Amino acid sequence: MDSTTAKSQRSRGVIERYREFLPVSPATRIVSLGEGNTPLIHCPQLSKRVGRGCEVFVKNEGVNPTGSFKDRGMTVAVSEALEHGASAVICASTGNTSASASAYATRAGISCVVILPAGKIATGKLLQAFVYGAKIVAIDGNFDDALRIVCQLGETGDLAIVNSINSDRIAGQKTAAFEIADELRDAPDFHLLPVGNAGNITAYWAGYREYCAHGRSTKLPVMIGFQAAGAAPIFYNRIIEKLETVASAIRIGNPASWKQARAAIAESRGAIDVVSDEEILAAQTWLARQEGIFVEPASAASIAGLFKCCDSGEAAYSFQKIPEESRIVCTVTGHGLKDPDVMIGRMKELESVPATVGDVRRAIGL
Ligand code: F0G
Repeated sequence: MDSTTAKSQRSRGVIERYREFLPVSPATRIVSLGEGNTPLIHCPQLSKRVGRGCEVFVKNEGVNPTGSFKDRGMTVAVSEALEHGASAVICASTGNTSASASAYATRAGISCVVILPAGKIATGKLLQAFVYGAKIVAIDGNFDDALRIVCQLGETGDLAIVNSINSDRIAGQKTAAFEIADELRDAPDFHLLPVGNAGNITAYWAGYREYCAHGRSTKLPVMIGFQAAGAAPIFYNRIIEKLETVASAIRIGNPASWKQARAAIAESRGAIDVVSDEEILAAQTWLARQEGIFVEPASAASIAGLFKCCDSGEAAYSFQKIPEESRIVCTVTGHGLKDPDVMIGRMKELESVPATVGDVRRAIGL
């Protein structure tokens, strides 16, 4: 590799871009796969749905190296783990954290252990952990059980925990807020996102506040988080043991960053709300067919949430009197191909036609 190629590779990734805001030293060996710098997509159909001259943007985190926002935090967490001499990383996961940890650990030349709730991980994500070569353990329990076990293991061994209880993860994930403020030349007025373990809402809020404090933006957004109705501990204000949702990524009953999420919502005068599985799947299809963006079900919670804010009298936050020309950002957290099973189930079996122009014309309806 010539030096120009090496340099251009090094200049990609969130640590290179936002080093001054991140807990790395000049000596840190940066473990990166070129994460971040994801598209902030202006969405005309969503904007029309909100009305009042508002503009809606979708921050498409599904185009990160392993297909989710987790890569932003993982580059920092794994780089730091390496600096502190860890020989392996460990995480509990509903799928995306494990995919990301496995890839970055491989990149760093260390091993990765992932503890997962058996039978509850989307096919694509489990496949990623397998292909990247992680040691995978499935437990008869949910994500909350897996995280409890990881915390106990992490206390004793020389395994570095790379769940979002590791502050390096949160630090890296803040960079999504920086990118949005840089691109819009200020923070948006509203920020909507799905909430599971509540690390991401914590990270965005920290990022927006930090940028404002450094004079890089002039305002702070209202933060609105959405949980799946069958896995909504923060909304109901109690630990949920019996979890039920199609959005397996946010199937969490006792979020680690519960308090921080509450603080973000209170300080930003925002809200936490729930969306049903039906609303989630309808929003997933709508976003694919109206805006050309295919996201996983958990990610569609932010879009389902936007619709609820616009349409429902029961929404925790109503957009009915939203100030004109507000700017709204919805984060979509993971790629649709990671978790395709529900949509595959809805796809009609294809019947073939003879290979002639006439038959194909008829099949198209020309
Ligand atoms: N969206 C997706 C696609 C996720 O994978 C997650 C969390 C969230 C939203 C919620 O983010 O936890 O920071 O509130 N996934 C974790 C995992 C729990 O293990 O992959 P959060």
